[in-house]
Order: sequence, then structure tokens, then C-alpha cells
Amino acid sequence: MKALLISRASQLHAEIASLGAARAPLLEVCAVRASLREALDRPESASLQLLIVDASEIEPSEAVLLERLGRQYPGTQLMLLADQHHPELLIRAMRAGVRDVLQLPLVQRAFHEALDRAAAAAGISTLREGKVLAFIACKGGSGATFISTNFGYALATLSAKRVLLIDLNRQFGDAALYVSDQKPAMTLSDVCAQIARVDGPFLESCVVHVTPGFGMLAAADDAAHAKEARPEHIDSILRVARQHYDYVLLDIGRQIDAVSLRALDVTDTIYPVLQLALPDIRDARRLLDIFRSLGYALDDIRLVVNRYEKGGKLRLQDLHTALGCEVVHTFPNDYVAVTDSVNQGVPVLQLSRASAAARSLVELVELVTGSRVQESRGLLERLFGRGEPND
Ligand SMILES: Nc1ncnc2c1ncn2[C@@H]1O[C@H](COP(=O)(O)OP(=O)(O)OP(=O)(O)O)[C@@H](O)[C@H]1O
Ligand SMILES: [Mg+2]
Repeated sequence: MKALLISRASQLHAEIASLGAARAPLLEVCAVRASLREALDRPESASLQLLIVDASEIEPSEAVLLERLGRQYPGTQLMLLADQHHPELLIRAMRAGVRDVLQLPLVQRAFHEALDRAAAAAGISTLREGKVLAFIACKGGSGATFISTNFGYALATLSAKRVLLIDLNRQFGDAALYVSDQKPAMTLSDVCAQIARVDGPFLESCVVHVTPGFGMLAAADDAAHAKEARPEHIDSILRVARQHYDYVLLDIGRQIDAVSLRALDVTDTIYPVLQLALPDIRDARRLLDIFRSLGYALDDIRLVVNRYEKGGKLRLQDLHTALGCEVVHTFPNDYVAVTDSVNQGVPVLQLSRASAAARSLVELVELVTGSRVQESRGLLERLFGRGEPND
């Protein structure tokens, strides 16, 4: 979104440029004028979507110029920044077509919301159509949390996508601890308790930021709070999350209940995580039976085998035959790298880039995004050497 800023204050210019640079769509301040008079005398030739007028230095006698400015840029959104209420100016501003009057000093959230309104009015879509991917453990300890959290980090880091992971293990949620040492200020329960406020900026303010592109919405560490999440809350959160992130990952855990089922109903792809052992296969079969009875398409269910070691008694082909479902990825048994990562709360890709676990994550990113990890691939291949086929 291209904007003209009318202000003498270089500090305000810097602030708007920095707040706008972190937005989608990007706010680009392509020209600055020191006063309304100068803006009228020196019209900007580039096509603009937004005029931002700093009203703190406008004299009451100049207010009439606002209306002229509105006529000079028909169809361009007008935003007024004011440090005090000035009735005459406000009336002129309304006549000039100002849609938003924001208080100075700028409040980040209010400014971002006003930018969203301006972008929507200018017909620029700020919304994404994120995919929801759910990781579900067929058996306790299968590795669903390790894989979903580390995959989220890898996806955000290697493919520059915006990724949100939601920990749906409402009783014993621990996903945030796998890749971060930050204590979550807000949890899924807190978001559910304020469900009417949920929008993109609110959701973003509730997540633990592992990196700028990877946020995690933690589960409440107090099981008593777990009751607060209801299926309709999950609906609203996922609807908003899809619009603001490229990928929304769910760590479902083992609980199949009304809340996790509602989440699975809107999931694009379900990744059941299991190990290649008979008890896991039995539980996987039960899980797949539930999915079939719910009418989920088998094509949207992709098995991930964790801690896979070649040459075992059970083969991937046996699993395919037993479950009638495709294994799309195997994750190696990498005790040292995974244990170090989990114990330190540092993503394995960051801690042990050359490990087999890290390589497997890169492959999973490529599989899910359908494109090769470009820049880092050369570096990764030098580190890893050539990858072995899975089976
Ligand atoms: N590929 C792997 N190689 C070696 N160790 C692994 C691997 N994946 C997971 N682990 C180990 O297994 C443990 C259990 O993994 P994780 O917590 O991810 O399982 P889960 O499916 O989320 O279990 P829960 O049912 O408790 O939620 C981890 O602490 C980790 O150390
Ligand atoms: Mg878990």
C-alpha cells in the first residue's frame, strides 16, 4: 500500500515506516510533505492508496486545506493523526472523507487496525488462506509434539512462511517448551475466555514468538483451565488463524474429544505419528477407523513414521498393507540430537543442523510446501552429504 505522509516530524516518519514495514500488505511511505500547503502545491505523481496527515501542527485556519486535499486525491484513503481534539479540524476532516482519526503518540495496535481498514477499503486483501495441518500421536510418546514443533520452526525458517502452532493438548500441553524457553504470557484458555476479541493482531499478541515468523499458542499449564475451550471457540480461532498465517499446525495429542474433533473437521491434512511397532499399529488402526467413520477422506490422512530404523522386522510396506494408508515420511531415530534439543528447548535444526533429524525436517518441509528449500539447500547438502532414500 503506497502512502503519502504529511508531517514535519522526522521521528513520526521513521515510526510509521517501521510499523508499516512489518505489515502485510506492506505500507510504503513513498513521499513526504511538510505541510498541507506543500502537499497541495506539489502533488505526488505515484498512485497512492493512503494519505496520512499529521494534524498536530495544523493551524485551525489551515483546516480548510484538508477538504482541498481530499478533492485532489479522490478515492485515496485519508488517515488523520492528532494529539488533541480540535472540533473545527475534525469537522473539516469528515468533510474531506477522513475515515480514521488516531491519537498521537501512535498506539501500534490502533495503527495496524487502521491500516487493515484502509487496505480493505482500497480493495487490497490482507488475508491469507492458510492451511491447517494436524499432528496426532497414535500412541503416547510417538513423537507428535517433537515433530510438530520442530517442523513449525523448520517451515518458518526455511520457507519464509508465517506459521502458527496451536497446542491442543489441553491437559498436559508442553509444546512451547520443546523449542523455546519463554514463559507464555497467554494461553489457548485465555484466548477462549476472550473469544469476542479474537482477530489477527490479538492472536499475534498472545503467541510465544520462537522466531518472527513462527508463533506458538501454548496450552494452559493449569489443567483446571482446560474446560474453557469449547468447539465453537476452536472454530473462531482457526478461522482467524487461517487468515493471518500461511500454515496453522495443531499438536492434537492423543485426546479425541469434541474440541479436537472440531479442529480435525477443518484440518486440511492429518498426520498421524506412529512408531513401527505392533501396539502403535493397533492404535493407528483404531484412529483411522474413527476417521473413516467421520467421513474424512483417506487422501487427507498421511502417516508419519517416527524413530524409523531400516532393517527392522516390520517394514513400511507392512504398515501400508495393515492400515491401507500411505506413509509419506519417515523420521529417523536420532537419540542424541533429539534428546539434546528437547532437553534444551532449542529446535534441532538450530542446535544440530548436521543431524539426521534436521535433514529429515528439511525433507518434510519440501514435501509439504512442494518446493525445494532453495538457499539453505546448498549449505545443508554440504553439511549432510547426499540424502538416502527412505526405504
Ligand atoms: N526421532 C526421534 N529420535 C529419538 N528420540 C525421539 C524422536 N522423536 C521423539 N523422541 C523422544 O521421544 C520423546 C517423546 O516425544 P514427544 O513428546 O514428541 O511425543 P508425543 O507423541 O508428543 O507424546 P505425548 O503423548 O506425551 O504427547 C521425546 O522426549 C523425545 O526425546
Ligand atoms: Mg505431546
